[in-house]
Amino acid sequence: MASIPFSIEEYINRQSRFHSKLPENSMVIIPTNSNCIRSNDTNYPFRGNSYMLYLCGWYDPDAVFVSHNIDGHWTTSLFVQPSDTKAEIWEGRRVGVENASINWPVDEAYSITEIDHIILKNLENINNVFIIQGLNKQLDDIVFESLTNKSRSRNKTGKGPRSVSDPSYLLDEMRLIKSKEEINKMQISCNLASKAHIKAITSSKPGIGEWEIQSIIEGHFISNLSEISYSSIVGGGSNATVLHYGDNNCVINDGDLVLVDAGCEIDGYASDITRTWPINGKFTKEQIEVYEIVLEAEIAGINACVVGNPWLSSHHASSKVIAEGLIKLGILNCSLEEALGQDYDGPYRNFFMHGTSHSLGLDVHDVGVTSPNGEKEGRILEDGMILTVEPGLYFADWRTDISIPSKYAGIGIRIEDDILITKDGPVILTSSCPKSIIEIESLMNTRG
Ligand code: GLY
Ligand code: MN
Ligand code: MN
Repeated sequence: MASIPFSIEEYINRQSRFHSKLPENSMVIIPTNSNCIRSNDTNYPFRGNSYMLYLCGWYDPDAVFVSHNIDGHWTTSLFVQPSDTKAEIWEGRRVGVENASINWPVDEAYSITEIDHIILKNLENINNVFIIQGLNKQLDDIVFESLTNKSRSRNKTGKGPRSVSDPSYLLDEMRLIKSKEEINKMQISCNLASKAHIKAITSSKPGIGEWEIQSIIEGHFISNLSEISYSSIVGGGSNATVLHYGDNNCVINDGDLVLVDAGCEIDGYASDITRTWPINGKFTKEQIEVYEIVLEAEIAGINACVVGNPWLSSHHASSKVIAEGLIKLGILNCSLEEALGQDYDGPYRNFFMHGTSHSLGLDVHDVGVTSPNGEKEGRILEDGMILTVEPGLYFADWRTDISIPSKYAGIGIRIEDDILITKDGPVILTSSCPKSIIEIESLMNTRG
């Protein structure tokens, strides 16, 4: 049984800030996930709901965080699976109700079997319910039933909830800005993912299978008590031109690049790194020409990650370098303005078709509305946000809708780092993972 990942104070602080945004006489209901069947009698690896992890660090299935406010006073509760020898013989030890009440950041803990009647009882004194829906149908139904007049007359007080809302927007705004403890955790996640990439780079050789690189990376995560934060992408040769390539079942030939997009989770916190390197340890002239453009675009994107800049600054900075590069390579034959297009939707998007940045945290594509007030350039970057910067160039040799000089056909390159926004400028949390041509080639020269 693992223990709670952060200090009790950290969670109490998160809960208090969240509760301070809610009206009096409210109830919050945040269920986590249940196990999900993979095939008969076997489950997918369990991953708890990120809002549950955020508010109280509870990581086991079939639990619910509940808090309610009566006349200004908040009480927090966790409903968890009770100790049950028969179930634990098969599924593993449970934390249990008593242990949860002592060691988790809540006032009270109960068995999950009691949730219906305790919630129903407390709902009588509640005006507003804030529930994450879709995770626990039984609770969704109880809450909606309590809205009806029939339910109010049944409880004889005539009282009961008048509104049901989704609290995720409030929590997402909080999760967008990382605390010191979260930043430390994400640094550990980034360090581990960087090491895994280095291990993969130094194990590379012509003829290696994409799956073997995947197993080096994921083996490193597992041997450090971690796990993947998303399915690893290992694309050799032109497989790198498929953005979410995941088959990872081809041999990588001499002369090919390999693009690896892989990250891990530490206590639920994700890292997300992409590196692209020559499988034989030496970039060709054409690979260098493309790589240098992507690297310059990535550095420009990182340099735009500055407090006060709009969210899309990194995308615009990277896009400009990519569009200039495409003109320099002779792939686009137009002005920079035309290549970029009026809304960054010009022909450069044929070769760099995804976004440059997303927020990163408990989810790899983390929560947070990027234009809460419809801002065209996105919200303003703030101290404590963590974003990726990940431009790429993809010259798919299998596409019939674009024309590519044959010397570049089949090249796909993406470079991705995880960036903490601070008042003192961007901090690259993944800086221990080499990315310049000279660093990658020197590292590969150390192979036995
Ligand atoms: N690994 C997913 C992404 O880079 O967005
Ligand atoms: Mn990413
Ligand atoms: Mn990625």
